[in-house]
Amino acid sequence: MLGFEDSYEVCNCKNVSIEQIILALKDKEEPTLRDIQDMTTAGTECRHCIFQECDNGKLKKKVYCKDILNEIKRKRT
Ligand code: FES
Repeated sequence: MLGFEDSYEVCNCKNVSIEQIILALKDKEEPTLRDIQDMTTAGTECRHCIFQECDNGKLKKKVYCKDILNEIKRKRT
């Protein structure tokens, strides 16, 4: 997805991969960032991985939970 392997780790604090997010949201009709946090724990520690504006880490993320969420929604339409 988005040029990354499904095993790519989006959230390094909680070791959550793209695949885990996809699986967690598969039965959600209108998935949200909160669903990703609640169901996978991604984005619940340093929070840098949620979306770009939250990323004040020294090393910027290559992809964010919000990017994955948007791509999941886009593929469904
Ligand atoms: S990298 Fe996701 S909470 Fe820190």
